[in-house]
Amino acid sequence: MALAVTRLSATRRVIDMLSDMLVEVVAADGSVGFMHPLPPAAAHAFWQSAFEAVARKQRIILGATHGGTIIGTATLLLDLPPNQPHRAEIAKLMTRPAYRRQGVATALLRAAERVAMRHGRWLLVLDTAIEGGAAAFHERREYHVAGEIPDYALTPFGGLTGTRIYWKRLEASREPG
Ligand SMILES: CC(C)(COP(=O)(O)OP(=O)(O)OC[C@H]1O[C@@H](n2cnc3c(N)ncnc32)[C@H](O)[C@@H]1OP(=O)(O)O)[C@@H](O)C(=O)NCCC(=O)NCCS
Repeated sequence: MALAVTRLSATRRVIDMLSDMLVEVVAADGSVGFMHPLPPAAAHAFWQSAFEAVARKQRIILGATHGGTIIGTATLLLDLPPNQPHRAEIAKLMTRPAYRRQGVATALLRAAERVAMRHGRWLLVLDTAIEGGAAAFHERREYHVAGEIPDYALTPFGGLTGTRIYWKRLEASREPG
């Protein structure tokens, strides 16, 4: 599959495509912060606000595009306290259900890691739902388990699930700065 991973800008078309994907991923039981059914207006509001944070340089949103359509996304959160200038968080990693198991999320994660390094962020943190989340996916991509918090969130269709927190040091010998 011909795949391009790029930094996304806040055009109407991009926000429409990301919103459609978010609604679809939640409907497929993806634990990405929302309950099913996710109203399209709420999905739009989320991405609108996310791109406002991009404009403030507080996050970077990556998109995986195939034939002009966004089929996956990942966000790198950069807005962390002043004593953590070397750290970033990965969030909202998702692939449209029809395009899964073809390497889309892997390409997004690797691109996010490269972008993080370019911004001096060599320590990455992320979390994922224990049930229905992407724990196995991250563990096979060199993310270390920091621990678990039980009953952390509701799954999209209801019922509590714990979360598993991960970290990855992108380069062994970097000092903050
Ligand atoms: C988790 C998620 C992002 C993975 O997306 P994806 O694009 O399917 O991920 P990839 O294709 O890169 O990798 C998935 C698996 O497919 C396999 N795969 C990759 N390319 C493949 C190919 N060409 N043929 C067959 N399998 C392939 C990978 O090896 C991987 O398996 P592994 O984890 O056992 O190694 C996706 O399932 C999703 O959106 N889930 C819902 C939201 C969610 O839970 N997000 C995570 C929040 S942290």
